[in-house]
Amino acid sequence: MTATPRRTRRAAQPAAVLPSLPDDFAVRVIAWQQRHGRHHLPWQNTGDAYRTWLSEIMLQQTQVSAVLGYYARFIERFPTVQALAAAPADDVMAAWAGLGYYTRARNLHRCAQIVVAEHDGIFPCDPDVLATLPGIGRSTAAAIAAFSYGVRAAILDGNVKRVFARVFGIDGFPGDKRVEDTMWRIAEAVLPPAEGIQPYTQGLMDLGATVCTRGKPACLTGERPCPLQSLCEARSTDRVMELPVPRPRKTIPERAATLVIALHADAVLLQRRPQRGIWGGLWSLPLVGEMDDVLDAHPLEVGAVRRAAQAYGAVSTVEMAGALTHTFTHFRLYMHLLRAEIATPVALNDDWRWVPLAQLNSVGLPAPVKLALETLVQPSLI
Ligand code: ADE
Ligand code: SF4
Repeated sequence: MTATPRRTRRAAQPAAVLPSLPDDFAVRVIAWQQRHGRHHLPWQNTGDAYRTWLSEIMLQQTQVSAVLGYYARFIERFPTVQALAAAPADDVMAAWAGLGYYTRARNLHRCAQIVVAEHDGIFPCDPDVLATLPGIGRSTAAAIAAFSYGVRAAILDGNVKRVFARVFGIDGFPGDKRVEDTMWRIAEAVLPPAEGIQPYTQGLMDLGATVCTRGKPACLTGERPCPLQSLCEARSTDRVMELPVPRPRKTIPERAATLVIALHADAVLLQRRPQRGIWGGLWSLPLVGEMDDVLDAHPLEVGAVRRAAQAYGAVSTVEMAGALTHTFTHFRLYMHLLRAEIATPVALNDDWRWVPLAQLNSVGLPAPVKLALETLVQPSLI
């Protein structure tokens, strides 16, 4: 018997199912763009791929209003891709200064040099070739090809993902590979014929930027009409503000620890934490037992804590005091706190000290420990 090839097993995963797509999506976007979209941006309808490319790179992480001045100065200083390619890097960086995300400027310069050296100074019209150039991803490549050359190619930037997630009711974080793949397939399936690609691409961008915004979508504010409202899944199911689904929170490991509030004559026992590990070198409440990733193992039973507390002196009472959670960068700590009254303290080494409650503020306690003491020991004492 031959072994099952890996490929076969992987193919067994069901392909993402596309929602049923309306056939007038692009028609609506184009009609809206012609009436309500942006028509007078300085790079629009120039038929100049250099200008289109420059504007698309600037617009990658920056809004139109912030880009306009930079764009005008750039075109004046570097009127052609040859001028930009030949310019010293410092001049390019200086012209970019203030736009942020400086990798974009370095890639811009490198890209100009490659276009001059390898493409005779002419931006390629094939989106797949454009996408090999520095700073040009799949969506930017499609936008450049569509705007400059009328190529029928699909864009999918953050704004478009939001519009798609809402209109087609797509659950799942759009940064997920599977969700993103589904969106790319939708983006290609709803494209208009090549004749409409420019107003369609611009319309989709403008809709995302002005109508279907993240915080104030027009269908909820009623400020503007949305051309997609009658086919919008999020709108009809009342989930506009729930889509797109946000990035899932990282699940972080959880651990548990038992801390003792050992009290004697209005003083509390503190232990210096080892240099390594949580609260390294800080004074803290003593930890009993190990930090544990088996949550069931905590709280340590009162008997175990009583035995541990005998190291501090004669124990009169031990009782549960409460619980607190603190989230560190790498794990979440559940702290179980027990209170032990110590009748006669014994002498301990330098890593231990009894601190009068009234003086606790002068000790640099870790915030959660301070909170535990403030909540669980009579606040008036501290
Ligand atoms: N965002 C990215 N490209 C854009 C464009 N061409 N017009 C408006 N907003 C954009
Ligand atoms: Fe966005 Fe609302 Fe329009 Fe749907 S109806 S596309 S949520 S603005």
